[in-house]
Formats: sequence, structure tokens, C-alpha cells
Amino acid sequence: MSTNNRKIYIFDTTLRDGEQCPGASLTPDEKVEVAKQLERLNVDIIEAGFPAASPGEIEAIQKVSKVVRTPIICGLARMVEKDIDAVRQALRFAKRKRLHVFLATSKIHRDFKLHKDTSEILKLAVRNIRYGKKFFDDIEFSPEDASRTERDFLVEVVGAAVEAGATTVNIPDTVGYALPTEFGQLIAYLVEQIPALGKTVNLSVHCHNDLGLAVANSLSAIQNGANQVECTVNGIGERAGNAAMEEIVMTLNTRKDNFSDNCYTDVKTKEITKASRLVSRLTGMVVQPNKAIVGRNAFSHESGIHQDGILKLRQTYEIIDPKDVGLSGSQLILGKHSGRHAFRERLEKLNFHLSVKQIDVAFKRFKDLADQKKYVFDQDIEALVEEQISKIPETWQLVYLNTSSGTKAKPKAEIHLKRQKKVYKASSSGDGQVDACYKAIEKILKMKLKLVDYSIQSVTSGKDAVGEVNVKLLHQNREVSGRGTSTDVIEASVKAYLFAVNKICSQQIRTKLAPV
Ligand code: KIV
Ligand code: ZN
Repeated sequence: MSTNNRKIYIFDTTLRDGEQCPGASLTPDEKVEVAKQLERLNVDIIEAGFPAASPGEIEAIQKVSKVVRTPIICGLARMVEKDIDAVRQALRFAKRKRLHVFLATSKIHRDFKLHKDTSEILKLAVRNIRYGKKFFDDIEFSPEDASRTERDFLVEVVGAAVEAGATTVNIPDTVGYALPTEFGQLIAYLVEQIPALGKTVNLSVHCHNDLGLAVANSLSAIQNGANQVECTVNGIGERAGNAAMEEIVMTLNTRKDNFSDNCYTDVKTKEITKASRLVSRLTGMVVQPNKAIVGRNAFSHESGIHQDGILKLRQTYEIIDPKDVGLSGSQLILGKHSGRHAFRERLEKLNFHLSVKQIDVAFKRFKDLADQKKYVFDQDIEALVEEQISKIPETWQLVYLNTSSGTKAKPKAEIHLKRQKKVYKASSSGDGQVDACYKAIEKILKMKLKLVDYSIQSVTSGKDAVGEVNVKLLHQNREVSGRGTSTDVIEASVKAYLFAVNKICSQQIRTKLAPV
């Protein structure tokens, strides 16, 4: 009988490459919240950010590395000493740390971005890895745009990096250009040329999803010798995103038969759904309903034939047991007659470990919701609790909302917001009720905000479903996301807007909140 024998290291870059996509930026507390969940998932390495980006980024990574102790915490740097020093500072408190240095190697990047020839690139890489080696035992080197780099030069630069002290070599498909067979062949070629790769030196891959092939390319690399994959929760990241962690992990679990040397990861798959929802909520990056593993429909069966099959034997139409990714088997749960005990048990099952006081608040909100809708589903409870436990202070609170519109009447809204015990009132008309609400809010806030994205979806099904609104606001050249839920979509829209505003305020508080 075969046994698991080749560990695939999961390097999660949700907090670095994932956070790099527009509007996904996280506050330091949010980074910590995500990092804690990544620790629960048991990923091996957390790339917590790019310290040279700002002092705030250094502070956030320090916060993460103070509380997250099991995974290796990694910081990214360009091949310059000041970036490496920023990583040193950011990882001061980390129990286990890694420096990740990168430098573009492809001809197009050398000629047009860096204006450097191959010998200069080699020198820069070796010099900075040696510099990093003074402070870090664990160093990862990424030749950026490796998949478009001439093979001979790639072998040369990787060999030199290993000699200079790199302990992991990461091969990025930076622009998502590679095809699975081709990328697998590249990995096999590198292993053939530098046999230490995948053995004494970790061989990693980092695939982008521009052609929708990031996961396929990562898996092909594993089949050809890579023993680390870089990925993000929900596949968020630059442009079309990065390889999705949950897809890689669940493919390795589900199709063990296709990975000849019994590859395995140490990821606790039951934490996947929670991680997905948390990342989606905090980044404002909505997960498409048909997304593999974590999409709302990933385990739903609409057609009668499928439902019949599932009832006879789950495996007829399900290749993964939903429980394995942390979904509770049952969907329909509580109603207005459910008691506190049942509610508390459901919270525990959903992985919310709340204090007695928090449960009291959540239970009251649950009862209010149960008064409005007949059945309260797991997703409703998750939305309700996630909103409640959000760490963003409610600088602005909605206290009153009244809207009107009609086929012949102009949509109007009246809004009352509370801040520090004082209530501010405004009314406005708009193109629609939501627009009228937002205009009224802007009158109160006197902040320069632009709504750049608005989306609405139902959290659960049925005519009394909870609506979830996601918005992105542009404030001082930065996109900030917000999410709100309610059985009333106008109220959900206002809550989402205020959530984003409160995020902006909470960040301003640290640097001084502008008076209104
Ligand atoms: O996509 C890329 O090449 C990167 C590197 C920094 C690894 O993100
Ligand atoms: Zn990347």
C-alpha cells in the first residue's frame, strides 16, 4: 500500500499579492484576522506583505507576526538593501521568518523595465541574497516573469541564487502566460539542470490567472517536481488573480490518484469555507456563485435528477463532501421559535466562538431577523455575526432611514446618522432610492467620496432572503470596500456605504480624524 510521502508546502500570499488588487486593501487588524484564520487553516507560510511599501505595512506585519506563531511569516523585498532592511524590521517579532526577494529576469522586463543586462541582473541577485543571508537563514528567491525568461539564463540565475544562499526558489508565471504542459516541462527542466531543486532547496511556483490556468499550471508544476505552491484564498490577486488555495488543496486531496508520489498538504480543509468568507467580507471581493469549492452554488443541486441521485448516494453528483470544506451538511435551521441554546450551538458549529455578551447581542439580532423572515439559514447567521464582530468602529451609525419613489415620483431619501451622540440629518433626491440615500449621506459627511462599484446579491434564497450589498468607494486615490446585509436592500446599501466610510474614518483616526 502506498503512503503519503511528498509534502507540498502551502505558501499563502493573500495578504501580499491578494491584497494588491484594487480595493482589497486591509487595515492592520483585518490583516491579523485573516492571518489568524490562515493559521487555523494550517498553511505553512504566510506572506504578510511588502514592508517597503509604507511604515503602516511594517506595523501591520509586526502585528501579524506577534500573534501568529505556527506558520513561517514572510516579507517581500526588491533586490535593494533598504527593502531587505524593511523586511528585517517588519519580521522583528516573528518566531519563524522568511525573506522573499524578487528580481525580473525575462528579456522584456530587463530591456524595458529595468534597463539592465543579464550580467547586471546576476550581480544584483547574488549581492542582495548575500546581504539578506546576514540576517535570514530562510531566503526565497523569485526570478520575476520566469516563464518568459530564456531557459539558459533562468538556469544560470537560479543556480547563482542557490549558491548565494537561497533556500527556496520560486518560479513565477507573473503574467499568467504559461500553459500547463509547457509550465510542467519548465519545472522538470529546472530540476534536471539543478538537482537540488525540490530536495535540499525548495522549488516553488507562483501562477497568475490571466488565462484561467493558474491552478492547472500549479498542479502541473507539482507533478513535475515543485514542492511549494503560492496561492491566495478565493484566488484573489493582481488582475485576474492568483492560483486559488482551496482549489489546489482540494484537487490534491480529491485526486491523490493522479499524483504518483502521494502528494499531500497539511491544510485543515474544514477551515476553507470560513477563510473564504472572511477574505471576501474583509476585501469586498465577492466570490462568484459558481466558483469551485467556495462558490455559493458549489454544492447546490437544482435539477430534480441530480437531487434524486444525491439522495440515493451523495457521490453520484458530489466529488467532495461539503463537510470536508467546513460546510454544515444541513441548510435549513432556525426560525423565530428557536431558543438561545439552539442558536448558541449553531454558532459553535459555524465556528464562531463568542463571549456571553456577544452571544446576547447576536441572539437579539437573530430574533429581529427571524421576525422578518420565516427561516434563518446558516449564511444568514454568518452574515449577521460577521457584521457584528467586525473590528471597524462605528464612527457613523444609521439611526433613521426613509425612502420613497414611484413611476412618476422622483426618488427621495431622508437619513439620520449618529456620531459621538450627536444626530445629523439630511435628505436628498437621486436617480434611484439608493442614489438618493448616498447623496443624503454625502451631505452629512462632507467627505470627498466616489462610488466606483456597487453589487447586490442575496445571501440565501426565497422571497424573504437577506440581501448583501458590496460597494467600493474611492477616497483620496484609494479604493475602500464595504459590505452590508439586511432583508431590506436599501438598508443593506446604506449599511455597506457606511461600513466603507467607517473604515476610512478608522484609518484616519490613527492619523487624526478630519473634523466635520
Ligand atoms: O507575480 C509575481 O511575479 C510576483 C513575485 C513577486 C513573486 O508576485
Ligand atoms: Zn504575483
